[in-house]
Amino acid sequence: MKIALATTNIGKIKEFKELLTPLNFSIITKQEAGITQEFKETGNSFTENAQIKAKALFQLLHMPTIADDSGLEVDALNGRPGIYSARYSKEGTDYANNQKLLKEMENIKDRRARFVCAICFINSKGKVFNILKTVQGEIARNIKGTGGFGYDPLFLYNGVRFSDIKIDAKNKVSHRGKCIKDLILNIKNWI
Ligand code: IMP
Repeated sequence: MKIALATTNIGKIKEFKELLTPLNFSIITKQEAGITQEFKETGNSFTENAQIKAKALFQLLHMPTIADDSGLEVDALNGRPGIYSARYSKEGTDYANNQKLLKEMENIKDRRARFVCAICFINSKGKVFNILKTVQGEIARNIKGTGGFGYDPLFLYNGVRFSDIKIDAKNKVSHRGKCIKDLILNIKNWI
């Protein structure tokens, strides 16, 4: 059975493929399917955006589809960058996003934050299923570490940066890891 994946972010694709290995499905990314069209994230929540992307890809490929939307919510910033995490800075690069976050939090004591992941699965009949999971952590005061992607170099989980832990260790506790675990548990009934 083939499943389409609406994700284009290389870091996220790596995590998805690693986590979905136990299922005997072949995962075809949007890019591998030859779809170059960008799906606009016009929703007001992670769940809405995941659904928009999943529905758009399902309409093009007509096969079971997974899409996700994720981001970082910082308590002291009233949940920002939130659904705008990927395009937080003007440049929109991981480096610029991290720098902007550090600057905004320069004088902020409360460092609590969480990654949020929404996954939308659409089965072959077009039925929609949603999952939402989080991982709680803190924003560090400087950027360190070379692993991971996005805000990993700033995100402290139990005091350790996501950029400093191996991908399988991150997947065990992360927002995306928890979502995919839930998906694996349910997909046989949903598909
Ligand atoms: P999306 O591709 O619209 O879901 O944007 C997600 C953005 O949130 C990414 O570009 C990252 O900046 C951030 N993000 C989501 N998940 C993670 C993660 O596991 N580590 C680091 N950053 C993440």
